[in-house]
Amino acid sequence: MSDRYLNLVNSPVGSAVASRVGLPRPSVLRRFKAGDPLLPGPVLVGSTTGRPSAALKKLFTQAGLEVVDSLEKVADGERVAAVVLDARSLTTPAELAALREFLAPGVKRLGPSGRVIVLGLPADGADITVDATRQALDGIVRSLAKELRLGSTANLVWVADEASLPAALRFLLSGRSAYVDGQPLLLGPGTAPAPADWDQPLAGKTALVTGAARGIGAAIARVLARDGANVIVADLTQAGEALARVANEVGGTALHLDVAAAEAPQRLLAHLTAYTSGLDILVHNAGITRDKLMANMKPEQWDSVIAVNLQSQLNINAALLDSDQLNDQSRVVCLSSTTGFAGNRGQTNYGATKAGVIGLVRSSASAFAAHGASTINAIAPGFIDTEMTASMPLATREVARRLSSLQQAGLPVDVAEAVAWLSSPGAGGVNGQVLRVCGQNLVGA
Ligand SMILES: NC(=O)c1ccc[n+]([C@@H]2O[C@H](COP(=O)([O-])OP(=O)(O)OC[C@H]3O[C@@H](n4cnc5c(N)ncnc54)[C@H](O)[C@@H]3O)[C@@H](O)[C@H]2O)c1
Repeated sequence: MSDRYLNLVNSPVGSAVASRVGLPRPSVLRRFKAGDPLLPGPVLVGSTTGRPSAALKKLFTQAGLEVVDSLEKVADGERVAAVVLDARSLTTPAELAALREFLAPGVKRLGPSGRVIVLGLPADGADITVDATRQALDGIVRSLAKELRLGSTANLVWVADEASLPAALRFLLSGRSAYVDGQPLLLGPGTAPAPADWDQPLAGKTALVTGAARGIGAAIARVLARDGANVIVADLTQAGEALARVANEVGGTALHLDVAAAEAPQRLLAHLTAYTSGLDILVHNAGITRDKLMANMKPEQWDSVIAVNLQSQLNINAALLDSDQLNDQSRVVCLSSTTGFAGNRGQTNYGATKAGVIGLVRSSASAFAAHGASTINAIAPGFIDTEMTASMPLATREVARRLSSLQQAGLPVDVAEAVAWLSSPGAGGVNGQVLRVCGQNLVGA
């Protein structure tokens, strides 16, 4: 379902009218295309110590980027594609001024769909002033993200451990993170090997995606396959034809599975035993809505949503952890929602499950880390254009689309890209986290 308003305001006449009347002017976002460079221009790299570390510069040059450490080295009229500031040295509020000094001229020269990334250290309880200063970065980045225009984003990376930094920076700089905006991301310790080929980070991996017959699940299957994985797509029997089409498209296999059925974990394990040599990636994407105000909610509307969206994930994870089907560096990615943070009128049942998923990943992280070096994380999409959201009334949908800093809905592929990154070997230091893919939605961002 295309966003006609976005297309209109990106036409010459529409753009002029929207500008004159003061209407939102969402930009067409830079998204990943095979063969495109990681960034369409140079990356300006700085540090609050005065000079960016050689290791950080090397990381960017290894990724094929043109690195500049001063705007004086950027030709007149040329824009930078990204601005990265290493702010890990900060210990006092007074030192925060260094961010303004570096970022103010940097963002003025930022090109369309540009990236601002700030690296910080997470607060650790050792010193109050230091922790307050570190946490201040969150407010700066979230506010800056709201100021950027033309599809540009700002995100904060808390670097408790550097193992996952190369993969995280590549993700955030690339078009893969088009709809990730105003988010803090914690990188902890973990095994995070670089892939042999950054274009095929999932080569040789086996992935299973639930609810993959359409919408976000189908997009996830496509992106995991594009990145090299062998994909098993699972969905209800009644989604059979659509599921077969997705399986054919991604060169994968189809599994008819009602994730809420009591026998679902055993059926899934039996399938893995029969057809694979173990599971590397599991994406709990299947989900339903049965919206009603709490006062009018019927027991079956409540129960079905809890069963499909939350209990199924708990059951399947428990069975997998007990089995020999998980590999040493398995990745589980669960679909939550910004409703899990912010709540939503008419969605007490759905909100329960999406907040429950957040609790589930936080609480399961140590069990997965203890299983080789596996991880479990959640993605919380904001407003994504799918058949689920197409059923909303037109006016509500139009308003919801403009409620983010990027002034547009995300696409299923935006969620899929984040899932693929969290599923990759290089993301091994990200565990028990919830990443919002919401364009910095005003609700629940
Ligand atoms: N679309 C959004 O804006 C949005 C926002 C936040 C979160 N999400 C979450 O993303 C996920 C996918 O959403 P979507 O918009 O693509 O939904 P969708 O309704 O388009 O697709 C959901 C798929 O799950 C399948 N499914 C439903 N019940 C199942 C079951 N019991 N067993 C197996 N498969 C089952 C359906 O057949 C369907 O193919 C859901 O978990 C949803 O809650 C979506």
